[in-house]
Amino acid sequence: MAKHELQYLIETLHTEYLPITTGQVATYIPELGRANPDNLGICLVTTDGRVFEAGACDEPFTIQSISKPFTFGMALSELGHEKVFRHVGVEPSGEPFNSIELQGGTNRPFNPMVNAGAIAVTALLHSCYGDEAFDRLLECMSTAAGRLLSIDQSVYESESTTGHRNRAIAYLLLNFGMVHNLAAEALDIYFKQCSILVTCRDLATMAATLANMGRNPTTDKSVFDHRFVKDMLSIMFTCGMYDYSGHWAYQVGVPAKSGVSGGLMAVINRQLGIATYSPLLDDHGNSVRGIGVCADLASRLGLHAFDALNSGSRYLDSVL
Ligand code: DON
Repeated sequence: MAKHELQYLIETLHTEYLPITTGQVATYIPELGRANPDNLGICLVTTDGRVFEAGACDEPFTIQSISKPFTFGMALSELGHEKVFRHVGVEPSGEPFNSIELQGGTNRPFNPMVNAGAIAVTALLHSCYGDEAFDRLLECMSTAAGRLLSIDQSVYESESTTGHRNRAIAYLLLNFGMVHNLAAEALDIYFKQCSILVTCRDLATMAATLANMGRNPTTDKSVFDHRFVKDMLSIMFTCGMYDYSGHWAYQVGVPAKSGVSGGLMAVINRQLGIATYSPLLDDHGNSVRGIGVCADLASRLGLHAFDALNSGSRYLDSVL
């Protein structure tokens, strides 16, 4: 049988991008420095459950910031918009992900994709689930990935020992009443959520769950109501790539989220989840090869939200 066009495309991109060695492996969390810079995985999962993969798609790495849209979705599902938006905004910050800065006037973190906003969201989950908070969020991400996930204990300990900047952010949030009194406990859950181990295939399945309106297309299990998926994707579109988000929206034009381990997930509404894994990062903390592969996929397949090839809403198709 002839190779599927998408399989051929990602194998071609894998061959093209493998020799590119620009960027650095993150070392500010010491344990992340052990990652193999040669690894490159590319995986696509369609909303009808087909999987296409090339390269290192079974290699485990920690999810890091790609956990943030999921905890944000959980907080919205549990507490609703009004309560969540009292603690975090929806504005791109234009600042690095670990910036110690809150919005003027409200003292809220700019958005749930920067560390300050994600810590505030995790504190909200802690205030509603108590000691069960981490288990609940692990369960949510496991359902989105379609298998039981676990944490990398050494990355968790490494970040917990060295994460003083995040500690400063948590106490700044406490100072302004943006997190409850148990800031240290909430931060511990945040460190654990960042240390959840995933593979490139897991991430593509998680992305496909969002593309499929909150239902995992490989298991048919529901994870999020579609109303909250819309919120998650909107914030990923405007803030998911940190202080590169504007450039990304212009160049690639799809909601996405990156993490400092080198993972990147992108969502093509109602069609496809995309994930890449390559630990060589640029100065913003985004994967160099991941950005290149996604930009190429977007231009070759017409995925950009405003591409002439992208025919838009299926709802309108059905009524026009
Ligand atoms: O809080 C941190 O610094 C890390 N646990 C996560 C940061 C991250 O992934 C930013 N990504 N580009």
